[in-house]
Amino acid sequence: MACQSQLKILISRDEVAKAVARLAHEINRDYQGKRPLLIGVLKGSFVFMADLIRHLDLPLELEFVKLSSYGSAKESSGKVKVVQGLQTPIEGRDILVVEDIVDTGITTSFLLDYLKKKKPASLKLCALTDKPSRHKVSVSIDYLGFTVPDKFIVGYGIDCDEKFRNLPDIYTIED
Ligand code: IMP
Ligand code: MG
Repeated sequence: MACQSQLKILISRDEVAKAVARLAHEINRDYQGKRPLLIGVLKGSFVFMADLIRHLDLPLELEFVKLSSYGSAKESSGKVKVVQGLQTPIEGRDILVVEDIVDTGITTSFLLDYLKKKKPASLKLCALTDKPSRHKVSVSIDYLGFTVPDKFIVGYGIDCDEKFRNLPDIYTIED
């Protein structure tokens, strides 16, 4: 399958590190005096989340949710399910969702709607990468690392069929 195809570097680890520091700077500034709850979307966001929080100088807390959206490695089924939900109430909390990729936007907008119903004080989105040319629903990203082309990407936590999450840089899989 296509996960075997050649990898081509898209974003180096140095560029990723700079983007993470920039995003953290913005988040530190905007959440002064607050106690945000960061919600990471498993599994893709775990590396990004781990790097990001070590730049955050805030009394933050962490949660993870697991969603399933993809029928196979590369094709979205368009249906989203919460596989692992929140372990803590979020009513009145300042919520920052941490995502690896906004692709069609279906997963992220589903999650934001799901969280909004639980009445947080505020709800914002931080995404490492965004593929605007693929959006099917509109999602507004408050903190964005990189806009990426309409190609399948892997590395830095992001997988193709569970592979390549360990790569420190971000690659495209060429057809
Ligand atoms: P969406 O619902 O189409 O926005 O897709 C969201 C999820 O699909 C992401 O959080 C990823 O888990 C996965 N995904 C989308 N594009 C890629 C990609 O280029 N590489 C790896 N996973 C992807
Ligand atoms: Mg994801």
